[in-house]
Amino acid sequence: MNKTVNVAIMGIGTVGGGTYEILTQNHDYLLANHGIDFRVKKVLDKNLERVKSFGIPESAVASGVDEIASDKDISIVVETMGGVEPAKTFIEKVLLSGKSVVTANKELVSKHWPTLEAAAKKGGAGLYFEASCVGGVPIIRALRESLQANHVNSLVGIINGTTNYILSKMTEEGMSYADALKEAQSLGYAEFNPTADVEGFDASYKLSILSSLAFHTCIPFQHVYREGITGITKADIKAGKELGYVIKLLAIGKRSGDTVEVRVHPTFVPADHPLAGVSGSFNAVYVNGDFVDDLMFYGRGAGARPTGSAIVSDVVYAAERTEPIYSDFENDGKIAAGITIGKDFTSKYYLSVSAPDAPGVLAALAGVFAKNNVSIETVLQRGGSGGASISFLTHTAQESDVRRSVAEIEKLDDANKVVSLVRVLS
Ligand code: HSE
Repeated sequence: MNKTVNVAIMGIGTVGGGTYEILTQNHDYLLANHGIDFRVKKVLDKNLERVKSFGIPESAVASGVDEIASDKDISIVVETMGGVEPAKTFIEKVLLSGKSVVTANKELVSKHWPTLEAAAKKGGAGLYFEASCVGGVPIIRALRESLQANHVNSLVGIINGTTNYILSKMTEEGMSYADALKEAQSLGYAEFNPTADVEGFDASYKLSILSSLAFHTCIPFQHVYREGITGITKADIKAGKELGYVIKLLAIGKRSGDTVEVRVHPTFVPADHPLAGVSGSFNAVYVNGDFVDDLMFYGRGAGARPTGSAIVSDVVYAAERTEPIYSDFENDGKIAAGITIGKDFTSKYYLSVSAPDAPGVLAALAGVFAKNNVSIETVLQRGGSGGASISFLTHTAQESDVRRSVAEIEKLDDANKVVSLVRVLS
């Protein structure tokens, strides 16, 4: 027996519009496969022109969130407004009224998941957010429902398409950061204010959600170590190439015993690693579980159609479930008792130092590394009248030892400067 499910969409921008298109264009397909007649009964958006551009009748435009929350015929509400407020207030309101919410809002979920989940439980509603991380790639469902047999050891992802596009252009076409950013903006990948993407905030929101699911504990995003890509130069990319690496903004979640590491930073990825081939605006997440071994999820992490695809999968999921599902860990905003967030990472490091080109300089730098227990694997040096540029690739070292070395190198001589520090994926 077919059933009708009425849906509301709050926010008819790129992703909300894509969701509307899928629900209408694939209406009969969803009906045939799932026996559900999905109808977009209401939309909420102040921009009437944009609403009309998707062929949505003006009569479907709600006057406010209360009209949606009080509509007894609507059972699922899609939130594609973005940002924290008013999305948070609106979502809480509809959850408390008993309607399940499907959201693509990574910032909101990573910052207020416990509050939203509490509202969902109170209202007897579901809260689904497959579209919040890695767009069309079904990584959340995989972590929640396909990998339960495993202790996830690590999750390493390229989970921001804008930065991957910029770094790919710098690597493949020798573009400067500024030119690659401009191109990403003209193609609509990067925002006019690109901070959330290029400074790694977007990736840290997503990593907080993904690592919470993978490691079964809240990992508030404030605990994610974060560095963006704004300091990456053509010289770093060239040195990486010479050493056999491709630079990527990686989001890394690792669990070893009771220690969890969560970090977002530019990383040298060995050129033969599957993540090195993930180019342009594509995303990928490389997961290792104790029984399944390595898995890689690859696809488009943004855009109306891929993100709309993830949203509609949650809409169908919510419509088919008789009972909502919630987190399988205590979702109280706190890291579970006994778990420590590791800050002293272990990695190989690439460091580029500018220093005077004079006898004994290289030996003095090497002495600092030796004193701090950092072993050098490779050195590349170019001298000249303007000074020397010396690049070091270390063997596996502790972050604290490397940081101490950096401070000491810069103290040795006012002319010494550590111009780049890039961690290496092992
Ligand atoms: N701005 C994000 C990116 C897409 O560039 O990947 C949405 O999360």
